[in-house]
Amino acid sequence: MAKKSIVISTGAGISAESGIKTFRDQNGLWENHKIEEVATPEGFFKNPELVHHFYNMRRAQLKKVEPNAAHRALAELEKNWSGDVFLITQNVDDLHARAGSKKMVAIHGELKKARCVACLGRFIWQEDLSAESVCPGCQKKNCLRPDIVWFGELPYFMDQAYDRISECELFIAVGTSGNVHPAAAFSQHATNAHKIEVNLQPSMVAHSFDDVILGPATEKIPELVNAILKGDLQF
Ligand code: OAD
Repeated sequence: MAKKSIVISTGAGISAESGIKTFRDQNGLWENHKIEEVATPEGFFKNPELVHHFYNMRRAQLKKVEPNAAHRALAELEKNWSGDVFLITQNVDDLHARAGSKKMVAIHGELKKARCVACLGRFIWQEDLSAESVCPGCQKKNCLRPDIVWFGELPYFMDQAYDRISECELFIAVGTSGNVHPAAAFSQHATNAHKIEVNLQPSMVAHSFDDVILGPATEKIPELVNAILKGDLQF
């Protein structure tokens, strides 16, 4: 039997039970902030201090949170599935990597990286960022920004993501509301795949999936991974 490939697309909901706020749920990250102030290049240009503070807080939070059962189950799937498993995350936390996922891309950037607007280098960055931070590439100050893809900017790794999605036999989207493109339309590119959504409630694009599994990711993802590895799920 040919080895079948699986692509998983994850959003903020998979990290919610680790204690990281989602964006659009009640009391979500965007409820307390204007998106244009903290998630656009224009907002950064206008008030870099505010934007650095917003992402410094979120970067610091990563030291206090752990991967949960859903992150770990996806890492187990990658390790134990006979075919290819590829993870595409919109999350900027590091919980998939810490759980052990290796074949993955972070299309909205990473909190633990900084980008230089002068030399365009991208650097591992664990601590706070400010205008005083010195770029490890060009040694200049006042040129590092969080390596986060903001509204109006192109996500990373899209060619790779579309290639994998269009070739896979099983496509799973977890904990993403379907509000933000291009990820919201990924399921439409999975033309050869059986498509499953896992969410607390149907997303904006739930209609484009074959199955919608409702419930918390820490419960439903381990169950789903178990079914896949045991051969109980046909696709
Ligand atoms: P959202 O906050 O828009 O959606 C989170 C989704 O997760 C919702 O559909 C919730 O129902 C679901 N959810 C919450 N808790 C869950 C749980 N325990 N188990 C399963 N599902 C759960 O987050 P995203 O769709 O990831 O971009 O948002 C996409 C992008 O919007 C983000 O990457 C961010 C934001 O603007 C940038 O910052 C560039």
